[in-house]
Amino acid sequence: MLGEIILYHSDTRIRKVLVDFLTDEGYKLSIVDRADDIISRVNSDDNYVVLSELQGGGSDGSIKLMESAHGINSNIPFVFVATGDDVKEAVRAMKAGAFYCLTEPIDLGELKVVLERVFEDIKLRQENIVLKDKAYGRFHNMIGKSEAMQRVYEIIKQVAPTDVSVLITGESGVGKELVAEAIHAFSRRRDAPLVKLHCAALAEGVLESELFGHEKGAFTDALKRHIGRFEKADGGTLFLDEVSEIPPSVQVKILRVLEDGRFERVGGSETLKTDIRLITATNKNLVREVEEGRFREDLYWRIKVIEIYIPPLRERRDDIPLLIDHYLEVYSNKNHRPISKVDKKAMDLLVSYDWPGNVRELKNVVESIVVLSRDDVVTVDDLPEDVRYGVSKGGPLMIPVGTSIEEVEKSLIRDTLLKVANDKKKAAKMLGISLGQLERRIRRYGL
Ligand SMILES: Nc1ncnc2c1ncn2[C@@H]1O[C@H](COP(=O)(O)OP(=O)(O)OP(=O)(O)O)[C@@H](O)[C@H]1O
Ligand SMILES: [Mg+2]
Repeated sequence: MLGEIILYHSDTRIRKVLVDFLTDEGYKLSIVDRADDIISRVNSDDNYVVLSELQGGGSDGSIKLMESAHGINSNIPFVFVATGDDVKEAVRAMKAGAFYCLTEPIDLGELKVVLERVFEDIKLRQENIVLKDKAYGRFHNMIGKSEAMQRVYEIIKQVAPTDVSVLITGESGVGKELVAEAIHAFSRRRDAPLVKLHCAALAEGVLESELFGHEKGAFTDALKRHIGRFEKADGGTLFLDEVSEIPPSVQVKILRVLEDGRFERVGGSETLKTDIRLITATNKNLVREVEEGRFREDLYWRIKVIEIYIPPLRERRDDIPLLIDHYLEVYSNKNHRPISKVDKKAMDLLVSYDWPGNVRELKNVVESIVVLSRDDVVTVDDLPEDVRYGVSKGGPLMIPVGTSIEEVEKSLIRDTLLKVANDKKKAAKMLGISLGQLERRIRRYGL
């Protein structure tokens, strides 16, 4: 399929000729019945062309309409067909920013060449944008040029224009929320809302109300009607973060909405309909949650039509210097502290550090460096201890001579907890102490 053309012509005979020709050529057509309808089709996408009859008429003529469309997206190419031999109007249209003006009778060979050129232009412009972003290791709101991240960008580009449900997985702090934002931004729903809900730490009843809304009087505290996220996201995207934390009773209800788009507010009898694209995220292993009966298998298959896994930062170390430079700039501007660079030794340590908290941890570390550093060049002395001594997940502890026993114990407990994903029972077993003893130490060391 070639590109898309939004087609308008008031003369049914000419329109038929155009439709037949363009369909044969392999273009995708969106035919509008009124010139004004062109505007409602225009959005920030850059991959279509408007082919329209050139109608005079000043304020409601085609040129004005093109100008309004260009107000929404100045990149949209307009190709006009001037009626008869109205050369004056054609010249005005070209001056106002039309890509080309054909005259009647339409020369289909000429039209073919013009369309090839216009789509070539679009392709070049898009490649240019992609190249620029690639050079800087950026994609939408994300930074990273590692192969792993480039794969993530590719999948985002592929799935965004569709309506399939996407499950984003990866450790805490790897950027799952940013991926959800990028998918929404590259989807046809971009002008509708992206509604987010963190599902952890909400009691079952509250979660239900947040998702589906409630009617006034549905329960004691329901003083007025509350609109839920499924309703707010109608036409747009719903992002459910920490989806593994949703209790089974609520999982069933979500499944139903996903099946037929219907739901009721809590305490309500009216059945509402919603049209959403669902994106979910989790840092847990959902397969295990399913196996252990905490997550419904049918819901699992529904939400994970496509899975995007974001690897932890320690598996894509190429991205670390870029992220450090980026956040150095962000935080030195924010805190009015001109930090110009990180010296080589310090950067080496930052790159070899394992970042158990991923990009979120990196951001915090960079901000603390910016605030505390003594000079405009960051050196090893400005780095936090964890980074300097290289706490590594599951690996051997590096303990410099001169470290206190207390420090050693603290590091050992912290690393053990990291290794077992905060499972205190497991950690206590590995450390050979009781759960109570471990918990006391966690409190004492503020872990
Ligand atoms: N590739 C990236 N480029 C720039 N900033 C990033 C990137 N990845 C993550 N961040 C930043 O790191 C922080 C954590 O990212 P985010 O909230 O998306 O992580 P998450 O995977 O959703 O974590 P959690 O599982 O804890 O919710 C955010 O402030 C985000 O802006
Ligand atoms: Mg998140």
